[in-house]
Amino acid sequence: TRLYLSNDTSARAAGAGVLADAWSEHPEVQLIRISSRGAFFLEPMVERDSPAGRVAWFNVTAQDLPLILSGTDGTPVRSIPFLAQQTRFTFANFGETEPLALDEYQARGGLSGLETALRIGPDAIIEELRVSQLRGRGGAAFPVWNKWKVAQQARADDKYVVANADEGDAGTYCDRMILEGDPFRLLEGMLICARAIGAGRGYVYCRQEYPAAAKTLRAAIQKADEAELLELDGEPFPIEVVEGAGSYVCGEETALLESLEGKRGVVRARPPYPAQSGLYGRPTIVSNVLTFASIPNILSRGGAWHAALGTKQSRGTMALQLGGRVKHPGLVEVPFGLSLHQVLEQFGGGMAPGSRFKAVQVGGPLGSLFPASQMDIPICYDAFAKAGAVLGHGGIVVYDHETDMVDLARHFMAFTADESCGKCTPCRIGSVRGREILERIQSGSGTIEDLALLHDLGDTMKVASLCALGGRAPYPVLTAIEHFPAEFRSKLRT
Ligand code: NAI
Ligand code: SF4
Repeated sequence: TRLYLSNDTSARAAGAGVLADAWSEHPEVQLIRISSRGAFFLEPMVERDSPAGRVAWFNVTAQDLPLILSGTDGTPVRSIPFLAQQTRFTFANFGETEPLALDEYQARGGLSGLETALRIGPDAIIEELRVSQLRGRGGAAFPVWNKWKVAQQARADDKYVVANADEGDAGTYCDRMILEGDPFRLLEGMLICARAIGAGRGYVYCRQEYPAAAKTLRAAIQKADEAELLELDGEPFPIEVVEGAGSYVCGEETALLESLEGKRGVVRARPPYPAQSGLYGRPTIVSNVLTFASIPNILSRGGAWHAALGTKQSRGTMALQLGGRVKHPGLVEVPFGLSLHQVLEQFGGGMAPGSRFKAVQVGGPLGSLFPASQMDIPICYDAFAKAGAVLGHGGIVVYDHETDMVDLARHFMAFTADESCGKCTPCRIGSVRGREILERIQSGSGTIEDLALLHDLGDTMKVASLCALGGRAPYPVLTAIEHFPAEFRSKLRT
C-alpha cells in the first residue's frame, strides 16, 4: 500500500522520522516522503490514495498502521478546514509531490513559467511583473519589476541573481518549506530573473540553521543541471548554495553580499542599491525565496491573474506562518486582505488549550505587538504601514496571558544588541543601552525617567540607524510599553 508521509523538518520534529523508521520493516508499506501541507498541528500526517482523492490520518503513531492499512477513520484531505479555506498557488504542490521529483513538478505545471519567459524575452517579462504588481515578499515590499528594470538597464560584464534564504525572523519558516518541499519552484523563479536581467550566475544564501533545506536544494540543483535546465541562451547558468554562519544581520541584503564575498557580514550604505552595484560591485538582484517562488505562476498565468488577487496595494497571496500559543500552528497561504482576527480564528483555531490571548507579534523580532483591540487590522502592506507596523515576512506569533511583557521587550533589545553588525552608532550603542534600561526596569530599580529614556532612544534608533535591524528594533519595545503600560509601571522603583 502506498502511504504518503512528509519529510519536512517540522513534520520530522513532530515524529515523522520515527514513524518512517518504525514502518521500514513492513514490506506491505511503500512509504512516499512528500513535502508538508503545513498543517503542523496534524503532523505526523499520513495519507493514502482513494477514488475520491487523498485521505489522511492525523498525529499518527507507529501503532496506527493497521487502522490506516484497513482504511478506517481517514479524513478526506480536501475536507480539512485549515487547508480547504486557503488559496494555494505558491504552495500548491505542498503535500502532493516528492520534493525532488522533477517530473511531478512539471506534471503540475512547473517550468511553464520559464518556458514563457524564454519565449517572450526580458522586456516582456518585466512588463508582466509590472502588471502583476508583485512586491518583494522578504518584508520590504518593494515593486519587483522596478528592481529588475534597474538591474536590466545597468551595463556590466557580469550580473548575479541571489536568493535570500537567510530566514532569520523567529516564527517564520515558509522559505525553509520551499527549499525543502518545492525547490524547483525557487530555481525556476531565479532562472526567469536571470533571463530578464541578463545574469550569468546565481547563489542561494541559506541560513546555517537549515541543513536539510541546503541538502535538498543542492540535490535539486544537481537534478536541474542533469536535465540541462541550468542554461540560458546556450550559456550555463550555475546556481550555488552558500551557507551562512548564524548571523541574523546577514539577512539584510548588503551584509549578505559581504558575507557571500567571504567578508564579515557588515551592512553597506545604500545607494547604490544591489540592483545597481551588488555582488563584487556588479548589478545583482537579491530577493527573498518566497518572491522568487511567486514568479513562475505569474509568467505562466499572466500578470493580470496575479493583480486580480488581494487588495489595491497588496496584490496576490501571502504565506502567513502561524505560531506561538495558537491551537493550529502552520502555514496559511491566502490573498491579502483578511483581518488578523479572521486569520487567527479561521485558521489558528483560537488559543491553545489553557491559554488566554495577550498579544500578537507580526513581522518577526522587529515587528510591532498588537493587543486584542487592534485585531481588526487587515493583513496587507498599506494597512500595516498606516499603523506604523510591518507585515515583514509573514510571521505571526501569538503570546498568551503568561507572557511577561517587560521580559519580552528586554529579550528583543538583547537580540538586537547581540545581532547588531556594529556599523552605525544608534544601533551598536543604542541597543546595548536599551537592553540595560530594560534590565534595570526588570530588576525593580528602574524609574519613570527610564521609560522616557526608552522612548527617546527608540526615536533616535528609528530615524538614525543605517538598516532595518536598528531602525525597527524599538518597535516591539515601544508597542509593548504602549499597550501594556501597567506591567512596566508596576516594576518601577517608587
Ligand atoms: P528597503 O525598502 O530598503 O529595500 C527593499 C528592496 O528594494 C531592496 O532589495 C533594495 O535594494 C530595493 N530597492 C529599494 N530602492 C531601490 C531603488 N531605488 N532601486 C533599486 N532597488 C531598490 O528594505 P530592506 O532594508 O532591504 O529590508 C527591510 C525589511 O526586511 C524590513 O521591513 C523587514 O520586514 C524585513 N526583514 C525580513 C527578514 C526575513 O527573515 N525575511 C528579517 C529581518 C527583516
Ligand atoms: Fe549594523 Fe545595526 Fe547599523 Fe544595521 S542598524 S547597519 S545592523 S549597526
